[in-house]
Amino acid sequence: MALNVLEELARKYAQQAVSADRSGNREIAIIYYNKAVDTLMKIVRLYPDNPLTKVYLTMIKEYKERAEQLKNLSVSVPVEGEEQGGISIEDLIVSEKPSVTWDDIADLEHAKKAIKKAIIYPARNPRLFPLGWPRGILLYGPPGCGKTLLASAVANEIDAVFISVDAATIMSKWLGEAEKNVAKLFRKGREMAKKGTPVIIFIDEIDSLLGVFSGEVGGEVRVRNQFLKEMDGLQDKKNKLLLFVIGATNKPWKLDDAFIRRFQRRIYIPPPSYEARIELFKLYTRELKLDPSVNIRELARLTEGYSSSDIKDICQEVQEKVVEEYFEETGGAYGEPRAITMDDFIEVIKRRRPSINRELIRRYEIWTAEYGAL
Ligand SMILES: Nc1ncnc2c1ncn2[C@@H]1O[C@H](COP(=O)(O)OP(=O)(O)O)[C@@H](O)[C@H]1O
Ligand SMILES: [Mg+2]
Repeated sequence: MALNVLEELARKYAQQAVSADRSGNREIAIIYYNKAVDTLMKIVRLYPDNPLTKVYLTMIKEYKERAEQLKNLSVSVPVEGEEQGGISIEDLIVSEKPSVTWDDIADLEHAKKAIKKAIIYPARNPRLFPLGWPRGILLYGPPGCGKTLLASAVANEIDAVFISVDAATIMSKWLGEAEKNVAKLFRKGREMAKKGTPVIIFIDEIDSLLGVFSGEVGGEVRVRNQFLKEMDGLQDKKNKLLLFVIGATNKPWKLDDAFIRRFQRRIYIPPPSYEARIELFKLYTRELKLDPSVNIRELARLTEGYSSSDIKDICQEVQEKVVEEYFEETGGAYGEPRAITMDDFIEVIKRRRPSINRELIRRYEIWTAEYGAL
């Protein structure tokens, strides 16, 4: 079954469950919660890369718990929460402190520098910026090259509250009207910033806020306008809150001019250069046992077009390879896995295709020439 059919089905089951639950019809509610759970699990299994996977996992958990609760309940207690199916955007906002630091990020010096100027210095001493500071920072570039990583590191660096949500979640038809979700997100950010700590709102895949099929006609326009309004509120001269918005996207060309203008800094996060790949291989083999045959420079040369994330995966796979061998040969009872050789690396690299091509890079470069702003 296609993804959208399954989603529609899950949604229907969930709605029926919630409505039965509301009217105190426990048996029916349990049946439909379970059906919704099964369907959602199927979606998660079949489409693990779906941006809404996180949302669905949260829902599965909630529905399971509710069904369990109903089973053990002698009298029904009505469900709380949003109309759509018992969860709200607040449940899905991640706001914990990330543990990533600058040192976990290979290369990207230009981006680190631009971010220091735009966020870290103002956050450390806002008085030095009487004319204000950029509120919106857009990170764009091919997938897997460090956008999310950078945003997390910034939050860690200034001890900020990190409110992270991806745009697909905001747009999810499960969570009610998307423009209200945008408003809630910023409200939460302001509330936390009022307590005096800096707050970073990180919206991943921000292009999804625009032009996504949102069930009803005009839905996208309202989300977009709400977002623009919230961003303008931050620019207000009297607004001294340390609230920063970082957006990330792989498809900057989907953003329109008004949207782009709200991000005063626009930073390209490129695929790793040869030098950066050397750094990445060093970083990700730091804790691995390498045979002297392994030549990092040669590995970097062989991985042109691979993203940083690909390189991490390669290192992980190579390690898995020797560990698997070790378990198969010894049962894990004695000794240790052998050292990783250059041939192990070459074999793993050959199995994978580079995820970034010239044409894609060219598109980013063209966009950068027109819109980039460090
Ligand atoms: N510059 C980098 N240095 C070290 N690791 C990186 C870098 N870029 C990406 N990675 C690895 O790849 C993973 C995915 O990167 P991510 O920041 O989510 O990419 P993006 O947001 O650009 O799609 C990271 O969790 C990290 O393990
Ligand atoms: Mg990312």
